[in-house]
Amino acid sequence: MEWFGLNRTKANLKRKIDWSSRLPKHIAIMMDGNGRWAKRRGFPRSAGHYAGMQTMRQTISMCNDNGIESLTLYAFSTENWKRPKDEVDYIISLVNEFVQDTNVRELNKNNIKVFFIGDISKFPEETQEAMCKVVDQTEENTGLKVYFAMNYGGKSDIIQSVISILKTKKGEEITEEEFEQFLYTVQNPNPDLLIRTSGEKRLSNFLLWQSAHTELWFTDEMWPDFNELLLYQSILDFQIRKKRA
Ligand code: IPE
Ligand code: IPE
Ligand code: MG
Repeated sequence: MEWFGLNRTKANLKRKIDWSSRLPKHIAIMMDGNGRWAKRRGFPRSAGHYAGMQTMRQTISMCNDNGIESLTLYAFSTENWKRPKDEVDYIISLVNEFVQDTNVRELNKNNIKVFFIGDISKFPEETQEAMCKVVDQTEENTGLKVYFAMNYGGKSDIIQSVISILKTKKGEEITEEEFEQFLYTVQNPNPDLLIRTSGEKRLSNFLLWQSAHTELWFTDEMWPDFNELLLYQSILDFQIRKKRA
């Protein structure tokens, strides 16, 4: 009965969405709340990160199935290095797991193209190599573009952009459009919709420049509990807000 009710709600929500136009082209997600999700169940934080990883895979697939063009996932911030070494090492081990061949085959099967944004040079060499390999192996794909923000910080993004500009355009005037060309996100449009789970309502150094005109959407659900219903709700709210604007 509960399953039936849930499916009916999902179908109702899905019907209300305008799928032919006004879909957000680019969704950015702050996947927050893994630790609290685990703690509430009496599990170690690592269990939350593991569950969050499964939710991340499902979300990629949901966005792909529903015609979203770009998805940026905040997976590891420049501040996250301050966490206990055990936790950081576990998160890196999950990244290593994600970039394994079997998963890459799955990404290719679904025509998904992968990018990494952020300073990945701080990760272990084998992780960096595996990341580059996934980018190469999915390069030809033409479906959903997934950008993993890894050791990403909005402030460091702006600084690295300024450093590059000083090397090439020192003393020249620069427009906002030109400045954007030096940001880590140069390949993708700015996000239309930014989702943060876990009830926190701050940007935590994510896409500071790029979110200047982005619609922000928050849910109290923890990231491992994010699902299709919430994705549809966020898209519907996005479309209602855009209609009003
Ligand atoms: C988000 O969940 C995952 C990462 C930052 C890698 P958290 O680990 O921040 O979980 P909470 O916010 O402490 O519950
Ligand atoms: C933001 O979550 C970073 C990611 C989701 C990767 P945090 O949990 O690290 O941010 P704060 O500490 O709540 O600001
Ligand atoms: Mg958090």
